[in-house]
Amino acid sequence: MHEPRKLYVKSFGCQMNVYDSHRMADTLAREGYVETQDPAEADLVILNTCHIREKAAEKVYSELGRLRKQKQEAGSDTMIAVAGCVAQAEGAEIMRRAPVVDVVVGPQSYHRLPELLAEAKAGKRVVDTEFPAEDKFDHLPAPTRAATRKRGPTAFVTVQEGCDKFCTFCVVPYTRGAEVSRPVTKILDEAARLLDQGVREITLIGQNVNAFHGEGPDGKVWTLARLMERLAQMEGLARLRYTTSHPRDMGDDLIAAHRDLPQLMPYLHLPVQSGSDRILAAMNRKHGRDLFLSLIEKMRGVRPDLALSSDFIVGFPGETDRDFEDTLDLVREVGFASAYSFKYSARPGTPAADHEAQVSEEVKTERLAELQKLLEASKSAFDAACRGRTFDILLEKPGRQPGQLIGRSPYLQSVVVNDPPVGIGELLTVTITDVGPNSLAGVTAETPPSPVLSRPLAAMEA
Ligand code: SAH
Ligand code: SF4
Ligand code: F3S
Repeated sequence: MHEPRKLYVKSFGCQMNVYDSHRMADTLAREGYVETQDPAEADLVILNTCHIREKAAEKVYSELGRLRKQKQEAGSDTMIAVAGCVAQAEGAEIMRRAPVVDVVVGPQSYHRLPELLAEAKAGKRVVDTEFPAEDKFDHLPAPTRAATRKRGPTAFVTVQEGCDKFCTFCVVPYTRGAEVSRPVTKILDEAARLLDQGVREITLIGQNVNAFHGEGPDGKVWTLARLMERLAQMEGLARLRYTTSHPRDMGDDLIAAHRDLPQLMPYLHLPVQSGSDRILAAMNRKHGRDLFLSLIEKMRGVRPDLALSSDFIVGFPGETDRDFEDTLDLVREVGFASAYSFKYSARPGTPAADHEAQVSEEVKTERLAELQKLLEASKSAFDAACRGRTFDILLEKPGRQPGQLIGRSPYLQSVVVNDPPVGIGELLTVTITDVGPNSLAGVTAETPPSPVLSRPLAAMEA
């Protein structure tokens, strides 16, 4: 018998890439590839890349440099494929800059990987960055039970892809194309299969997930809220999440779902980017500061234990000290449980890249440091307020010490427990005893989960 061929996939960027990497691995499993964690022993390496900021995009070239060296030194004939958003955005450039690359494949063509690899084996260097008419999801095989087990009790399901919002800083509408929602039945089938394979928590993903408008089994258009209502009725589903949302698409039915669906976790990632109306307008975010704040007010009204996370960009072209102050002020007002923040990175082909009033690197660095300090304090305040609280965690993996398991809180915090009475894949009610910078510690609770928090916990008292 042949040795199985080995596949190493490395994902950069967002959850969509993680999901896509799994789908590619599932596709290639049929071709006899098994996954390895070691690129040196791989017959095929796939880099699933991200184009969102310059630094992210450049990573692929340093990674390719390393692979080239490794190939040379070992004298191996490892095939190298570049997938994801850099592949989509600069496929030809990759081929030119990195002769080591055999295949470039854009996100809409992953189902064609087996053919593309066959062509590459025959000695051709291939680029496929088409947006084909057929639906790739119809051709991407589902994971085997063993693959799902290995990935643990949580899973992503793509429900929507692409974006029609065209924020002036962002490459996603170009790399992922126009917004497309998957049909409801296909999503439900995928979810049912995952649940049957032991998954307990599903995160619905999309670049603009709350703009979901998939065709329902009744022929009507279903919203994300309606889809989640249906998912929440499925046996075995303990937890439901969705990401990433746009403030403009937080419909009333979605807000109500946070009140009505017990499986829906009280944690929402809602990127705001800036607290300044002027900058929000220049970013083409299609909403102002007030809409964001009033949404949060509404959501906390229906779900008082709701915690929030967000994304921020500092140094967008034209951003003044005053605009930046508005961002800091919004952060103080909301009290985020967690957040990502970035320096504005000019991306080729996006409108903001040509703006004259680019902010200097120095100012961006200062502003980012100040914002991150505030966000860090906000996160610490949220974590600290969890001490003594009792909530369910979903046990996901072994901890460092024998007998320890690590689970996730409703707020995605890692919680370490010693000698839990149940195993991985189970929910356990714990009381938080310690709060560290990267994780919390808990003990099996004597009592049921605490009643919902009151608002002041989420708001930062600093
Ligand atoms: N679809 C999501 C986020 C997509 S990208 C949304 O609408 O918010 C993830 C985050 O990367 C964005 O929220 C933004 O904060 C950041 N980002 C996107 N383009 C960027 C750029 N050109 N420079 C810096 N950060 C950027
Ligand atoms: Fe990019 Fe804006 Fe679309 Fe988000 S909503 S993916 S930031 S264009
Ligand atoms: Fe990056 Fe593409 Fe996701 S640019 S953030 S991998 S959609």
